[in-house]
Amino acid sequence: MSGSVGVGIIGAGVISDTYLSNLTAFPDVEVLIVADLDPERARSRAEQYGVPAWGTADDVLAHPDVQLVVNLTVPAVHVEVSSAAIDAGKHVWTEKPLGLDRESTAQLLRDAEAAGLRIGSAPDTLLGPGFQSAKRAILEGAIGEPLFAQASFQTQGPDLWHPGPQFLFARGAGPLLDMGPYYVSALVSLLGPVDRVAAVGTRPRRQRRIHTGPAAGDVFDVEVATTVQLIAAFEGGQQAQGQFSFDSALERAGVLEIHGTEGTLLLPDPNHFEGEIARIEPLGVLLDDDRPEQPRIAVPQEGVVVGRGLGVLDMVRAIAEERPHVATGELGHHVLDVLLSAEESVAGAGFVPVRSSLSGPVPAVPRDFDPFARTL
Ligand SMILES: NC(=O)c1ccc[n+]([C@@H]2O[C@H](COP(=O)([O-])OP(=O)(O)OC[C@H]3O[C@@H](n4cnc5c(N)ncnc54)[C@H](O)[C@@H]3O)[C@@H](O)[C@H]2O)c1
Repeated sequence: MSGSVGVGIIGAGVISDTYLSNLTAFPDVEVLIVADLDPERARSRAEQYGVPAWGTADDVLAHPDVQLVVNLTVPAVHVEVSSAAIDAGKHVWTEKPLGLDRESTAQLLRDAEAAGLRIGSAPDTLLGPGFQSAKRAILEGAIGEPLFAQASFQTQGPDLWHPGPQFLFARGAGPLLDMGPYYVSALVSLLGPVDRVAAVGTRPRRQRRIHTGPAAGDVFDVEVATTVQLIAAFEGGQQAQGQFSFDSALERAGVLEIHGTEGTLLLPDPNHFEGEIARIEPLGVLLDDDRPEQPRIAVPQEGVVVGRGLGVLDMVRAIAEERPHVATGELGHHVLDVLLSAEESVAGAGFVPVRSSLSGPVPAVPRDFDPFARTL
């Protein structure tokens, strides 16, 4: 094998398609095996992308050349699958959320550290040129000191497009834990750790229906709130409000605004790897009847646009270069902690202090980051 790092994928469902498309194109990564509970699903994904082997999760863990496991299973088994990979001596990249609770995810991080292994956690949209160009603009002072933020995600719900949407309405998901990680990871990467949150939430429909795929027409139970509104206070003194809904007729997702002492930055959708970035300048002194349009000043997006898999690529390079990776397990754990605190607040706990913090700022990606360079 060349200098590329051997990767095994566990979970060959919907999102494995885009992961495989990108991971098989990166020279620094070699996908060696795909696994799923459903062997046919694993085989067909492996064949689709020319991956030489397929099988069960145990086959991935036993593969001698797999150094990093990519966990694309459903949230209910994230910790179980990631822990088994750590026990087998493999680094782990996991889809979000890191797990369902604080304790087992904290134990997972401790076990990985004790074994000298790394955990990386989605979302890796954080590494995309859209978010990173916005982050760079803020670090370079484009809006002065960040003061407060707004985040909003509202859709009709993923039951309309996902062929197996039950897990998206179960513990570990709902709009808060399924979509919240994109928005909260972006905010924590920009503003630092969250100190406390409060939230309200509702579950207007107790049951929903599958609309696509072989199970279309089936009805399933909704376990979690499907509309949540939260407010958060950051350790650095900034504040944010966020709205997450699977109940809105008006589809409007990807709203992320950071307001600073000298301007506002409109960020790309944090669930996307690219997008428009715009800066708004204050109007200054105005007369009451004089309210001109505020121009959106474009902030250029720099960097190569790819997609999911960037977090895995950053991890394998970071391991080789002995530097920290960007989307760490620690970040994933803190984001989960924030979202679980919001859930507890929804359940009646009022303002919930967030227990975890971060050991340092979330690093920015270098301007010259090239996914398609061979660096290893
Ligand atoms: N679908 C999306 O658009 C999307 C986008 C971003 C992130 N994600 C995340 O990716 C993860 C997977 O989502 P999905 O939409 O691909 O789900 P999915 O249900 O389509 O696929 C999950 C796959 O994991 C397999 N699986 C479950 N438990 C397993 C186990 N113990 N061992 C081996 N295989 C197992 C299932 O058989 C299934 O094929 C979730 O955490 C989700 O939040 C999904």
